[in-house]
Amino acid sequence: MRGGARLAGEVSVTGAKNSALKLMAAALLAPGHCTLTAVPEIADVAIMAELLRRLRCAATVADGTVELDVPDRIESEADYDLVRRLRASICVLGPLLARCGEARVALPGGDNIGSRGLDMHIGGLERLGAVITSEHGFLVATAGRLTGTTIWLEFPSVGATENLLTAAVLAKGTTVIDNAAREPEIGDLVAMLNSMGAQVNGAGSSTLVIDGVDALSPVAHQTVPDRVVAGTWAIGAAITRGDVTVRNAVPGHLEIALDKLVSAGATVETTVDGFRVCMQQRPRSVDVVTLPYPGFPTDLQPAIIALAAVSDGAAMVTENIFEGRFMFIDELVRLGADVRTDGHHAVVRGRPRLSGAPVRATDIRAGAALVLAGLVADGVTDVAEVHHIDRGYAGFVPQLQALGADVERIEVDVCP
Ligand code: EPU
Repeated sequence: MRGGARLAGEVSVTGAKNSALKLMAAALLAPGHCTLTAVPEIADVAIMAELLRRLRCAATVADGTVELDVPDRIESEADYDLVRRLRASICVLGPLLARCGEARVALPGGDNIGSRGLDMHIGGLERLGAVITSEHGFLVATAGRLTGTTIWLEFPSVGATENLLTAAVLAKGTTVIDNAAREPEIGDLVAMLNSMGAQVNGAGSSTLVIDGVDALSPVAHQTVPDRVVAGTWAIGAAITRGDVTVRNAVPGHLEIALDKLVSAGATVETTVDGFRVCMQQRPRSVDVVTLPYPGFPTDLQPAIIALAAVSDGAAMVTENIFEGRFMFIDELVRLGADVRTDGHHAVVRGRPRLSGAPVRATDIRAGAALVLAGLVADGVTDVAEVHHIDRGYAGFVPQLQALGADVERIEVDVCP
């Protein structure tokens, strides 16, 4: 991309990756035909569809709709070749255990944002009555019918909350998940489960109460809008001193992030189906601390660091969720950013402009942030390994072009 353009115009957001993948897994809970709409057309959805096929489901993905046929008897094993490509596939553990009374799911391992524990997933499922061991790289879980209980999470883990929820809906009796995650994607999953016939109360609060039922029915469900993609466009408007209307977005899901942009000098207004962000001067630096929802999302931390890199003043950004999420900063520094890290704190001293250079995306959100940084860098910035960005942002380049960015996607031969 060649820096200098101001993003202006309208962009529309699809359903959330981090919801759609879990909704697809939750479909395993009910035999029959399930339809999911507003599903983003990204690589992760295709991988999850393939995983479900290996579990004997029929799965088609087209035009933002996933059609699933879940048979009466499903397989209970998720292989490493798929799990390693999609860490979120661990979310089939709860549904498989609930449906089959057993599950073998490959251990996903770490990734580019740090080591990612599963202790709360395992501890919670054990409290529900599962016996879990680790064998030859697989988590092996067995149970008769799970039995409701009270589970207290040490940290409001999104993935653990989802696995426990999808296991508990078919358990005998009542399960209480305390210190549950409150992300909108959990609310979306609860909405789908309840329309399937589950009895879950408390979505959006820290306590989920689940009265187990004997069986669930398949449904049609629309995925909640992607707040991280919407937030990326909001920060894109601010960093380029642009004016972007984000459609099909829920401003209430981004309250703190949008408030930070207002503190940075942007005007943010709510529209009929989303919000508009307009920035007319150089942004001011604002401090940010990532926290579980409703705190500032860790998935927008790289983009907010890119914004701070060209803001007036110094900002302290604290990352509390993923230990490795500052790894992309070395790439941002290649663009001339002045960032120093100490543990989970980063001090960003804003510069008037960055300077284009070749950089490498290390994960989805880092990749998007480097693109935003490239938009405000002098000269040309090449972002390599954009397959990471493809995992979370469908049609990113055409959308950037439609908003006025001078950017193109090119295939290059990689040296062996
Ligand atoms: N953790 C544990 N033990 C557990 C579970 C989690 O130590 O049993 C730790 C993790 O290692 C991490 C922290 O707790 O340090 C938060 O993990 P959490 O379980 O909340 O996150 P996740 O379910 O693994 C999802 C999203 C992430 C998003 C986080 C936080 C999906 C597929 N992933 O991850 O999204 O950052 O919640 O909101 O839903 C992304 O989209 O780029 C992404 C990484």
